[in-house]
Amino acid sequence: MEKVEIYDTTLRDGEQSPGCSLNEHEKVQVAQQLERLNVDVIEAGFPAASPDDFKAVQNISKIIKNSTVTGLARSKKSDIDAAWEALKQTANPRIHVFIATSQVHMAYKLRMKPEEVLETAAASVRYARQFFPQIEFSCEDASRSDYAFMSRVVQSAIEAGASIINLPDTVGYCSPQEYAAMFQYVKKHVPDIDKVRLSCHCHNDLGMATANTLAAVDAGVRQIECTVNGVGERAGNVALEEIGVALHIRKDIYKVATQLKLDEISKTSKLVSHLMNSPIAANKAVVGANAFAHEAGIHQDGVLKNPKTYEIISPSLIGLDSGRLVLGKHSGRHAFRKKANEMGVRLTEEQVDQSFQAFKNLADKKKKITDDDFRTLFSKYRKTVAR
Ligand code: KIV
Ligand code: ZN
Repeated sequence: MEKVEIYDTTLRDGEQSPGCSLNEHEKVQVAQQLERLNVDVIEAGFPAASPDDFKAVQNISKIIKNSTVTGLARSKKSDIDAAWEALKQTANPRIHVFIATSQVHMAYKLRMKPEEVLETAAASVRYARQFFPQIEFSCEDASRSDYAFMSRVVQSAIEAGASIINLPDTVGYCSPQEYAAMFQYVKKHVPDIDKVRLSCHCHNDLGMATANTLAAVDAGVRQIECTVNGVGERAGNVALEEIGVALHIRKDIYKVATQLKLDEISKTSKLVSHLMNSPIAANKAVVGANAFAHEAGIHQDGVLKNPKTYEIISPSLIGLDSGRLVLGKHSGRHAFRKKANEMGVRLTEEQVDQSFQAFKNLADKKKKITDDDFRTLFSKYRKTVAR
């Protein structure tokens, strides 16, 4: 199967999320866990942004051995110099140079004419070439750019030495069909496009980042930029765990493989959530607390008979011991008896009848039934219920 590379930008785009900043030591911890997860590329920061960012990229570049380490740079000599200083000690240095190509960014943010943008892009890639063996070039706001103009910028970046071309959906505006069509356009209109790896980078403003990323893979993109738990600017970036698991579970349709160690996902997600002080919604795909929890009686009964009835992902795939049967007002006797057994209480049929009714009455009143509630319910059937 063809390989698709996973480029993690938790420490750069992810860290731009409000309230999510990490200290030097925490960044190293995250980078080491990303290496255990076996991501291909770690974007460690934006060295020219601040002395702290510079230091973090430098620290990470010294200790990471298996993943490529990269840093972001605007199309400016001073940014490229800072990136080289921060990254020169790493085993596999890569620079990520970008410039915006959409009309609104060029006119209002850069205050540059399109031809100036084109020349600046090529000149900065050429400048970076003297230091870096690998250059990734991004057209910021690619999805809202004029594709004919953007294709000219991409061709000049390739001629100047870029070997990875990233076309972000910077503001999460595209539909999956549009995003795929943008890559098809570039593949058709950029003469040297076959010499480079194409990369996607999706933001989640309309909740379409995962669908857009998968559409890009379908269109032949072979590098995915993502963040753990989908952290990032505004509504965030595409979530690494969703992409990693979707490509694995649906390899029948996507027909590509990542090198991720999927059983490190849960650990990585918890670490990032904890260090960034960014709680994960309970219903978040793959890593939410309820992602493998079943409360409805019919579902619980099915899962107890065969997990495949309601679980398309096995909890062990992402490194969890098992799923959770959550007992609430929708639960059935089967799961209730299992809970009693787990708490060391063997109930007769008659006892199940009695205590199950008491449990249902309680569940009607309380949102969450705790283990203490169960201990009370079972206490008359057993002198001591193990704590
Ligand atoms: O979203 C974006 O366009 C970016 C670029 C800097 C690649 O993060
Ligand atoms: Zn971004």
